Amino acid sequence: MYRTHNCGELRIADVGKEVTLGGWVQVSRDFGALTFVDLRDRYGITQLVFDIEDDADLAERARKLGREFVVSAKGLVRERTNKNPNRDTGDIEIEVKEMTILNSSKVPPFTIEEETDGGDDLRMKYRYLDLRRGPVQRNIIFRSKLALETRKYLDSQSFVEVETPFLIKSTPEGARDFVVPSRMNPGQFYALPQSPQTFKQILMVAGYDRYFQIVKCFRDEDLRADRQPEFTQIDCEMAFVTQEEVLATFEGLTKHLFHHTLGVELPDFPHMTYDEAMKRYGIDKPDVRFGMELTDLNEVAQNKGFKVFDSAELVVGICAKGQVGLTRKQLDGLTDWVKRPQIGAKGLVYVKCNEDGSFKSSVDKFYSQEDLAAWAEVLGAEPGDLLLVLSGEEEKTRKQMGELRLEMGRRMDLMDPAEFKPLWVVDFPLLEWDEESERFHAMHHPFTSPKKADMERMLNGDHETMKSLRADAYDLVINGVEIGGGSIRIHDRQLQEKNFKLLGFTDEEAEEQFGFLMGAFEYGAPPHGGIAFGFDRLCAVMNGQNSIRDFIAFPKNNQGRDMMIDAPASVSTEQLDELGLMMKPEEKS
Ligand code: AMO
Repeated sequence: MYRTHNCGELRIADVGKEVTLGGWVQVSRDFGALTFVDLRDRYGITQLVFDIEDDADLAERARKLGREFVVSAKGLVRERTNKNPNRDTGDIEIEVKEMTILNSSKVPPFTIEEETDGGDDLRMKYRYLDLRRGPVQRNIIFRSKLALETRKYLDSQSFVEVETPFLIKSTPEGARDFVVPSRMNPGQFYALPQSPQTFKQILMVAGYDRYFQIVKCFRDEDLRADRQPEFTQIDCEMAFVTQEEVLATFEGLTKHLFHHTLGVELPDFPHMTYDEAMKRYGIDKPDVRFGMELTDLNEVAQNKGFKVFDSAELVVGICAKGQVGLTRKQLDGLTDWVKRPQIGAKGLVYVKCNEDGSFKSSVDKFYSQEDLAAWAEVLGAEPGDLLLVLSGEEEKTRKQMGELRLEMGRRMDLMDPAEFKPLWVVDFPLLEWDEESERFHAMHHPFTSPKKADMERMLNGDHETMKSLRADAYDLVINGVEIGGGSIRIHDRQLQEKNFKLLGFTDEEAEEQFGFLMGAFEYGAPPHGGIAFGFDRLCAVMNGQNSIRDFIAFPKNNQGRDMMIDAPASVSTEQLDELGLMMKPEEKS
């Protein structure tokens, strides 16, 4: 028998028992007569003691144990003299009588402890070692529990889990597809699904009523901390539902998950329209853990002779509470920050609301103390506060201010990772006009329905009308992270055809790519709608982390590489040939 107990379960009540533990050597400390070994497994760490007086040979073998050796040790549980209150097993230790070394280990390239000295790529190359570390293990185990609770809740709501295929035809969700060549159909390719969108809609036509799947999705897009090329969704669809019913069901799921994994009770989620989110926060996924809302200053800041503001479509400010003390250097730093190409502002105006009631601004030349007092009043500022103001074209400037607000929130430490502020953002625009390509893009995806009130305008309106159509689409946002998105779908062939046309598809293209879906709509498609949660993101946000990487057992790095198996990699010419992918000499030029 390798073990009778795990390394996390023995307590003071077990003193006197003979036990066998198996695990990895985290560290071994040699004190001459006594050698202490911390033995680790998934459940915890237990201290082993080897006494030279009891068994000199055994003590000698213990002394030679290296980090990450795998051992099985048999002995007696005894009370520790110097207890370790930071460990669940800290009251006891094992007085070892027998030990088998089950395997040796090379010296690991980084420390396998709570904090590690390993860099990202090294940790990913030796992922099996990183996965042994407590913080990563806790994340992966949390993920498992979250998936289980998701299934429990959705099962209780009559959802059926259905697997949909991975080898499909492209579904446009806004990113590029990963494609897979077909050996049996030379020159033809499958695409890996960016989501199971069309399949779940087909399942509604097929009468499954409520579908879900915890499913991998694949998107070939630029990677960030919260984006992986393959990620997981809790993907759902419901028939005969309105937006309110979808939101109620998934608010229920979110509350269930927080309650059963974190013991956190979430209040009812507020709803905010897209327009309101953009106006108040400059972003469609507002972090409402803190205020510092955007306030329009056109009325008080224009027509005082400052050309930059006078000619701007929007002058907008935020009030940073208690930040009057920022130095000149810090303010210059903020100005540089907003001027970075990622933000793209031309400059930043500040007003210090001094403790004595006076104001000091970067535009004192143009504005009197009374003028600045009017700004302060509109922004609800008090002595000690700092006003930050941007101006320019409305949409861009709001977004820039939204970014600056978040940056100030970070600098002022206003985002408590243990606080959860969910909300629904609703009433997104249906279409976005892209100046460059001179065409509309679907803001969510091409299967999203306009709001009922806008259907007639969509079918019969002119080009300008299309820009103002609202979608029956919604996002779940928690702490400034888009956790999920969904919509009520089009279930009528005529409206779907019209949408494809608006998005620049010819009739033939629409038929070739989505004929199957529109065909299905002709055989009794019920009204339906759904949502997908980003499962990795939900894990990260619930644990107050920004990166999803350590909630994925085998993630890719920012270049989309799996460092452990070294993928992607080239394949043999035979394989390429078999797939019909070998370029003939005349095709090379
Ligand atoms: P959407 O494209 O909004 O909707 O995706 C749903 C959620 O998936 C997460 N997500 C990602 N997570 C990690 N890495 C990525 N690259 C990534 N891309 C998206 C986000 C996002 O909110 N079919 C629709 C859903 C529907 O309409 O029902 C869809 O996929 O958290």
